[in-house]
Amino acid sequence: MFDTLIRKARIIDGSGAPAYLADIGIKDGVIVAIADALDDQATDVIDAKGLWLAPGFIDVHTHDDLNVIHNPHMLEKISQGVTTVIVGNCGISASPAVLAGDPPDPLNLLGDQAAFCYPRFSQYAEAVAQASPSVNVGALVGHTAIRNNHMDDLQRSATTTELEAMCSDLRGALKDGALGMSSGLAYGSAKQSSTDEVIALVKELGAAEAVYTTHLRTEFDGIVEAMNEAFLTARSGKVPLVISHLKCAGKGNWGRSGELLQHLEQAALSQHVACDCYPYAASSSTLDLAQVTDETAIFITWSEPHGEQAERYLADIANDWKVSLMDAARRLMPAGAVYYCMSEDDVENIVSYPKSMIGSDGLPNDPHPHPRLWGAFPRVLGHYCREKGALSLPMAVHKMTGLSAGEFRLHNRGLIREGYCADLVLFDAERVIDSATFIKPRQAAEGIEKVWVNGVLSYQPGATQTGRAGQFLYRQS
Ligand code: ZN
Ligand code: CU
Repeated sequence: MFDTLIRKARIIDGSGAPAYLADIGIKDGVIVAIADALDDQATDVIDAKGLWLAPGFIDVHTHDDLNVIHNPHMLEKISQGVTTVIVGNCGISASPAVLAGDPPDPLNLLGDQAAFCYPRFSQYAEAVAQASPSVNVGALVGHTAIRNNHMDDLQRSATTTELEAMCSDLRGALKDGALGMSSGLAYGSAKQSSTDEVIALVKELGAAEAVYTTHLRTEFDGIVEAMNEAFLTARSGKVPLVISHLKCAGKGNWGRSGELLQHLEQAALSQHVACDCYPYAASSSTLDLAQVTDETAIFITWSEPHGEQAERYLADIANDWKVSLMDAARRLMPAGAVYYCMSEDDVENIVSYPKSMIGSDGLPNDPHPHPRLWGAFPRVLGHYCREKGALSLPMAVHKMTGLSAGEFRLHNRGLIREGYCADLVLFDAERVIDSATFIKPRQAAEGIEKVWVNGVLSYQPGATQTGRAGQFLYRQS
């Protein structure tokens, strides 16, 4: 007797292998049987004829640290077929963190000072378990967050004493189950940290068999040097590396994706490297003066001093105010922005590259979020896979599931196998597509039919949500 029996789905198992037809039996949150035809009884029998069944998608790049606690339904993710989120990317994490005042940029992407109430990683993990979100949660420790715990001035490298305190924070979090550490070296609050500072921390990761992810020191002209720094850092700590949201940012950089991917392949000959990416030619973050340019459009999503200018282009605001783009940006800060800084060809190249995982980089607190928050995964399947033929369906699914579970060392997830956790998404490959747009970003995708998290039915379009069965995923060695 199964809890759930899914009949006659086309199984895409997450390994990259072609689809096959089978029945799947689920019991106590686990896939217990896979066969041509299962005649066992089940509480729930799903006729999945004509649909595709994949492992639940793993969103490896998120800033959902506090969202999974404050908004545990996580509709923006579960409606895409996402069943696991990795939080704490880009150097930004909700824990372990103690704030003496307002969160410095970009920690402010997560919330205000009061939102940072988890000085210990174990407290954060418990809060997530208590909130019982719809999706599983694995967490990285943010380099910038632990810098901010111990440094009174982020515009310099850490002293030996500060670095020892940061290492101690990181060791504690790793002991309590953190998956690894992220850095955000392009941001002002981490840019002045030396490579040696980061290496000292990454060495702690090596000892714990954890991973290092990095938002490179630059994604603009100096990106190859920034990649080299990341390779060196990961090699020094003997850890696997994930380059976050790999992209060719800035017009001067367009057309270089082939070169960057080749550079990554070259490094992969001697160390373990991977990357993540989101399927859009526009980025989004806090408004950064270093990225203000008249070459490509910048859209303001929020502004603390000038809320009335939100949802307008920076160029129009500057025009109205009769000031330069730079002066307008200065007046708007702190603010959020969407930067149309990439070329479509580069995005397609990186999305279809076999070692790139899909990560949304969605910003759940943004009042007018980049559409990747609601649309990243269906957009890969619908737009890049079906419409453009840039990659095969099994490969696209692999880059959202098996590959991701492997890189982040998530045990018994990311594949459809007997004994694996029943995180599953049933979808229509002929219809699946993102609905969220830059104008209307909060729209659930089409073609995602059913989503199970740990065996519990957790999403069906139009139905009131049922399951809240996500677990906190502690690092296992
Ligand atoms: Zn980032
Ligand atoms: Cu990010």
